[in-house]
Amino acid sequence: LDYRLCGKLLNDKHSLTTENGPFCPPLGMESHRIENDQLLTSSVYQHRYGSHRARLNIQASGDEDDMNGGSWCANPEEKVHWIELDARTLTEFTGVITQGRDDPLESDYVSSYYVAFSNDSREWTVLHDGYAEWLFFGNSDKNTPVLSQFMEPVVARYIRILPQSWNGTMCMRMEVLGCPVPDPLSQYHSRNEVTHRDDLDYTHHNYLDMEKLMKSISDECPNITRFYSLGKSFKGLEIYAMEITDNPGMHETGEPEFRYTAGYHGNEALGRELLLMLMQYLCREYKDGNPRVRHLVDETRIYLVPSVNPDGHMKAFEKGSELGSWTLGHWTEDGHDIFQNFPDLNNILWDAEDKGMVPKLISNHHVPIPEGILSSNGSVAVETLALISWMESHPFVLGANLQGGERLVAYPFDMREPEEEIRVIEDQSMFRWLAISYASTHHTMTQTYQGGCHTDDPTGGMGIVNRAKWKPIPGSMNDFSYLRTNCFELSIFLGCDKFPHQSELLREWEHNKEALLTFMAQVHRGIKGVVRDKEGNPISNATVSVEGVNHDIRTGESGDYWRLLNPGEYRVTARAEGYSPFTRLCVVGFDPGATLCNFDLNKSNWDRIKQIMICITPPKRSRKERRRNFYSRSSIVAAAMS
Ligand SMILES: *[C@@H]1O[C@H](CO)[C@@H](O)[C@H](O)[C@H]1NC(C)=O
Ligand SMILES: *[C@@H]1O[C@H](CO)[C@@H](O)[C@H](O)[C@H]1NC(C)=O
Ligand SMILES: *[C@@H]1O[C@H](CO)[C@@H](O)[C@H](O)[C@H]1NC(C)=O
Ligand SMILES: *[C@@H]1O[C@H](CO)[C@@H](O)[C@H](O)[C@H]1NC(C)=O
Ligand SMILES: *[C@@H]1O[C@H](CO)[C@@H](O)[C@H](O)[C@H]1NC(C)=O
Ligand SMILES: *[C@@H]1O[C@H](CO)[C@@H](O)[C@H](O)[C@H]1NC(C)=O
Repeated sequence: LDYRLCGKLLNDKHSLTTENGPFCPPLGMESHRIENDQLLTSSVYQHRYGSHRARLNIQASGDEDDMNGGSWCANPEEKVHWIELDARTLTEFTGVITQGRDDPLESDYVSSYYVAFSNDSREWTVLHDGYAEWLFFGNSDKNTPVLSQFMEPVVARYIRILPQSWNGTMCMRMEVLGCPVPDPLSQYHSRNEVTHRDDLDYTHHNYLDMEKLMKSISDECPNITRFYSLGKSFKGLEIYAMEITDNPGMHETGEPEFRYTAGYHGNEALGRELLLMLMQYLCREYKDGNPRVRHLVDETRIYLVPSVNPDGHMKAFEKGSELGSWTLGHWTEDGHDIFQNFPDLNNILWDAEDKGMVPKLISNHHVPIPEGILSSNGSVAVETLALISWMESHPFVLGANLQGGERLVAYPFDMREPEEEIRVIEDQSMFRWLAISYASTHHTMTQTYQGGCHTDDPTGGMGIVNRAKWKPIPGSMNDFSYLRTNCFELSIFLGCDKFPHQSELLREWEHNKEALLTFMAQVHRGIKGVVRDKEGNPISNATVSVEGVNHDIRTGESGDYWRLLNPGEYRVTARAEGYSPFTRLCVVGFDPGATLCNFDLNKSNWDRIKQIMICITPPKRSRKERRRNFYSRSSIVAAAMS
């Protein structure tokens, strides 16, 4: 068997034939669809290494005292070892994937094993290769998943793996490939069930397929789409974007801009496919006149960027959905983690806050990027640079990055200073609302009885978590976006399996569809408006402040602004250089749609005074002249100030 072909087969939609096809899809050790009580083991080394830790790609926690070891490990005192999975229904098994223990130091893995089957978990039949019990070759390192397929599918309810040789301690993680054997009774029911499913392309897409699909969507809906590239990856692949709105290619005054990005880590492939599905869905439903989609697309400038790290995805895709290990394709070609490759503005703002300089001396928003950081020899990836210039050139209001390997929504701040208290973000209640809007409309994100993917549920049952409390990182896209631009950005972790098998994509679309749409609609929350002068000319770069929230935003080129706010009454002030500030009350209700709050600013008297002074002051004057002019000037000043 040429293992390099396995990845292709696992991604190939045609390989997924239940009628004795070469492979069945994973039963769900990694995705947690297999529940803990479906697993049984001969023995356990410590509870930390129990059967519940036998899931492919599960990660150990750094803390030696908790329950989260990096695999199942057997008690070394015992002679016979096995792990058993109860599929709960008659299943056609076609193979297993094994992996060693996740551990920074030890090298524990199983190098050979037998496989046995049973229908009652008492009588077991060991798989033969025709001559003898078939000894499968397992792993030769602790991280790389290794697939063994059976010559023919085996029908049974229970499967057992019996390790025969291993390195270090007997530890393993695994996935099982199998298809449920159709039950004639339930088939009768499902045939009569009316299931509506969106007519979308539920397959994985490599780079060229993605390009082709995006092009075809753009051809199908030319009036509402623009297909373009944000820039090139390190290897020269395009970072493609799809703009979806009623007048693509231009900013319309008053229309907020929204973004979904995915694929920061190339092996987190689900977000990429969900965005490709979302594009198809918006295009078709718009054409079909779906009122919700029409409203969203007409009133919002939406951007979908499915693959921020196309080089990484290419690596992970070549190995296939199950065999890429936990990290293959995570980084860019030149080794950057794009998501946490942004300039650290937190420390700049926090230092200024500690010195009492915010917001009087140092602004509480649009924090300047320290000089030289973006040009310092490769410390910022080309992909990150492309994102930064895109983020800075659009008046984005809200965005989310789709990631994987957990099932929750994380809101900023993402960074925390070591040994210091966690800083609470000014707009915390808004961020929590935004996070909940996704988590609570996702079909399974708040079903936390299953626990987290690698540890106990870190969200306390809510499906949302503050990143700094959970797994702090510096230089994140979310923190940068909030501190540098007007845009509120969150991270959506779509599930335990970063690269789900193709057969999961329809289910994942159905789990996420409502949440993706609901979250987008949140861009129309709070207040919005235009800041103008008395003649009705827009004032760009004006500051809009909300009393009690120490984080301002600024107007865009056409003088428009958006301020995400929860329902309430707010005193809002608009300021611009050369104009008198103006404060008004803006009320945000519970109904959808942002409250309109426009500002017409008067030229400030000081500005008029300055102009008058310039007008009446001759370029060069004698001392005598100046004294003579003084009295007439001050009477004009007095008039101007009255
Ligand atoms: C389990 O039962 C099915 C159906 O009765 C049978 O085809 C299969 O061979 C049995 N498997 C084992 C391991 O006994
Ligand atoms: C086997 O385990 C030992 C002890 O943990 C380790 O030193 C060695 O490198 C491992 N061998 C391989 C091939 O990983
Ligand atoms: C695009 O817009 C034009 C003009 O409004 C219209 O005639 C045409 O049918 C639209 N095309 C599609 C594919 O919706
Ligand atoms: C960048 O690299 C050049 C030579 O490749 C070197 O002269 C320069 O000092 C480097 N700059 C920084 C900020 O590291
Ligand atoms: C925007 O206004 C700020 C002060 O509020 C100023 O520092 C900055 O230079 C202005 N930017 C532009 C592009 O005018
Ligand atoms: C602008 O000035 C006019 C008087 O010229 C005054 O009535 C109005 O309230 C002022 N508006 C603002 C926003 O300051």
